[in-house]
Amino acid sequence: MIRSVLKGSGSALPARVVSNQELAERLDTSDEWIRERTGITQRYIAGEGETTSTLATAAARAALADAGLEPGEIDLIVLATATPDSTFPATAVQVQHALGSTGSAAFDVAAVCSGFLYALGAADSMLRTGMASRALVIGAETFSRILDWEDRTTCVLFGDGAGAIVLGAEEVAEDGPGVLATRLHAAGEHRELLYVDGGPSTTGTVGKLRMKGREVFRHAVVNLAAVLEEVLEAADFAATDIDWVVPHQANLRILDATARKLQLPIEKVVVTVDRHANTSAASVPLAFDVARRDGRIKPGDLVMMEAMGGGFTWGASLLRM
Ligand code: UT7
Repeated sequence: MIRSVLKGSGSALPARVVSNQELAERLDTSDEWIRERTGITQRYIAGEGETTSTLATAAARAALADAGLEPGEIDLIVLATATPDSTFPATAVQVQHALGSTGSAAFDVAAVCSGFLYALGAADSMLRTGMASRALVIGAETFSRILDWEDRTTCVLFGDGAGAIVLGAEEVAEDGPGVLATRLHAAGEHRELLYVDGGPSTTGTVGKLRMKGREVFRHAVVNLAAVLEEVLEAADFAATDIDWVVPHQANLRILDATARKLQLPIEKVVVTVDRHANTSAASVPLAFDVARRDGRIKPGDLVMMEAMGGGFTWGASLLRM
């Protein structure tokens, strides 16, 4: 059978680290509140010259180097972001150009924090149906540019960054590597619980992020547990078969609660929210790359990726390394 097999991964973070303490100096918040409620201790914030496309390009270069491939060997770029460099063209096209490549298909996916899962689902489908042979799948964000820095209920939660993977279509045995199953969902009736209050066709402005955090939290735990079960069933595995869960990094308490629901030990969950905060579509590929590079995720491992965010949108994907 043809599967989308992981060939490499990479990630990139802005140069500047902003600690909770630094935020507490200019906002009515504290290191203690942020740590206790979210697990976040710091975040990376893009500076001058750092944009979604520059971070995405750096992550893509690292993933290509890891895969031992040249940009010209990629025929599909799918980039998940809610903070594109421009309304158009797609940031994927900017990345293609920055990589010195031309001719591949390149487009953006807008599914906010679950964008990487949506991008992975799209790329996997195109690879398995022969529309492409090698894909770069990227999650990249500069949420710092759409935050209301006066709103302590949101601005302390997010950070900037990018992660990328390279997938190749390969003939493999049934117990071989590759993307085994992906499931995606959306519930537009909840679109006003997490949204941006502007846009090109409404206000003509970019807008700022608004969120009813407690409501999002409640839905996240329920939806994530359900989609994880759904993917396990589709791929015919049990939760106990999973070696690593690579979740969207929104809140340590959500990661704990989801792991508990599935009776998975928290030691099997890759946690980077403490260092990266919530980087939206970048968070899953960033965490994945960290855990591959530090040797936790190894060839042969069964890895579950999952995310939930604005829309609401949510999804999960099971991969054999
Ligand atoms: O990535 C997309 C998905 N997003 C998420 O998954 C986010 C999900 N939600 C969350 O992670 C949590 O709901 C938050 C971290 C956003 C908030 O935690 P919470 O335990 O739900 O707190 P809360 O919103 O119920 O607020 C508790 C209190 C409030 O004060 P009162 O009304 O009880 O007096 C807030 O005003 O904490 C206050 N508060 C803060 N205090 C200090 C809110 N933000 C801050 C802050 N510093 N930064």
